[in-house]
Amino acid sequence: MDGGHLNGSVQTNGGSGQLSDLSEGEAGDVLAPPAPDEGNATHLERRVGLFSGVALIVGTMIGSGIFVSPKGVLERTGSVGMCLVVWMGCGVLSTLGALAYAELGTVIPSSGAEYVYLLVGLGNLPAFVFSWVCSFVLKPSMLAIICLSFAEYLVEAFVEECEPPAQVVTLVGVLTIGGITFINCFSVTLATKVQNVFTAAKLIAIAIIVVGGMYSLAEGNTQYLRQGFEHTTSSVSDVATAFYSGLWAYDGWNNLNYVTEEIKNPSRNLPLAIIIGLPLVTACYLLVNISYLAVMSPIELLQSDAVAVTFGNRILGVMAWLMPLAVTMSTFGAANGTCFTSGRLCYAAARQGHLVDILSYVHVRRLTPSPALIFNAIIAIAMIVAGDIGSLIDFFSFTVWIFYGMAMAALIVMRRTKPDAPRPYKVPIVIPWLVLFMSIYLVVGPIIDAPQIEYLYALGFVLAGPLVYIPFVHYKWTPAFVGKTTLFFQKLLEVVPTSYDD
Ligand code: ARG
Repeated sequence: MDGGHLNGSVQTNGGSGQLSDLSEGEAGDVLAPPAPDEGNATHLERRVGLFSGVALIVGTMIGSGIFVSPKGVLERTGSVGMCLVVWMGCGVLSTLGALAYAELGTVIPSSGAEYVYLLVGLGNLPAFVFSWVCSFVLKPSMLAIICLSFAEYLVEAFVEECEPPAQVVTLVGVLTIGGITFINCFSVTLATKVQNVFTAAKLIAIAIIVVGGMYSLAEGNTQYLRQGFEHTTSSVSDVATAFYSGLWAYDGWNNLNYVTEEIKNPSRNLPLAIIIGLPLVTACYLLVNISYLAVMSPIELLQSDAVAVTFGNRILGVMAWLMPLAVTMSTFGAANGTCFTSGRLCYAAARQGHLVDILSYVHVRRLTPSPALIFNAIIAIAMIVAGDIGSLIDFFSFTVWIFYGMAMAALIVMRRTKPDAPRPYKVPIVIPWLVLFMSIYLVVGPIIDAPQIEYLYALGFVLAGPLVYIPFVHYKWTPAFVGKTTLFFQKLLEVVPTSYDD
């Protein structure tokens, strides 16, 4: 049924079909924390067991990053040894962050992750700032990065041995965002079908790389790996930005917390899924990087914008076409999943009165949140036109780690303010402190050492949050033109408001 997902999360049909359909594992963003006045709304069923929980984490984390970030990490660390250390470090940091989220998720068993944790731990304003920055910065930049990765691999597959022109990649990226947004506005069923078909592709791509790399190692190609720590960078901010590249590939480790309300026996399965899923992804990523370096030299890796294609050309012979095909399918699926949920996050925030009303409207017949989807696409396109993949990844990681840090602060605060809350899973308190310090280092280090305009933009957005909050959310002030504009777009896009108690 078209639109069942959308209705299911906010209205009354209980959300059937949400998770199974969203294999990218992002269904959680759909879910706003339950409003107390949701009266007759039925609750979402608990359908995510341990296995699906692990699949959800692994499925969201593995996307575009492992196919584009190896270059950034190697470039910034300067040496093969340090590069592998950073990949390992990103895995450890994500695992520690996720363990702290496991406690958060069992203390506050509502869906919605950061949004709810900031709301309960730190108050209304931080939660608003999160949803604001997420709608304007985080979600569009995710879509932009993934679509650019898709474009890079697609273009690379068609040009042989020469550098593809940057404008072509940008253009393909923009068209991809347009196409994916169209699919998502057109039909929920179509969007979820695309998702299911394309998810398998990434696992195939990873498997080919690991098997190929191990084969090459077995043949004795260890010369590049033996270079060790030669030429390691000594700059603090280079290491921090190397982490930015790597952490993009690991992002999504918090995704199970978006759907806490749908997990069976969450106090057992949430921590367990994290303890199984994160080391699994870390191991995959390390093996993939080792495989790249078993087949090509660090210099070749740095020269390639589509490292998996170069890898395929080296090792797969006549089957080399398999690699760009698998990676483009994987990234296309990831972009589709991101688009699907980004629209819904913006939709949920607008419904709470945190964004303009029009963004919470849905198409009269198709029941897709098209204004929110189009809004998200417009920002993502602006980002693609303005920046390249590397700077977008920095921009994303910088911003997102501000909020991961705040979630750690919320955990630490709640140990004091809610000392007696049941904590079926209690993380050793050093872990959130460690992650908090690490997030401060990641955010502050590059600002002090090598400030870039993107960080200022991001910071500007975060700081503008309170300025928007006070008049528009707290005092609920609506300028007169907003009503007319809403009406105009309502007619143009054929959208209507939804209600809680349909
Ligand atoms: N790690 C993913 C990738 O490499 C990106 C995940 C984006 N974050 C998310 N919450 N979906 O493409």
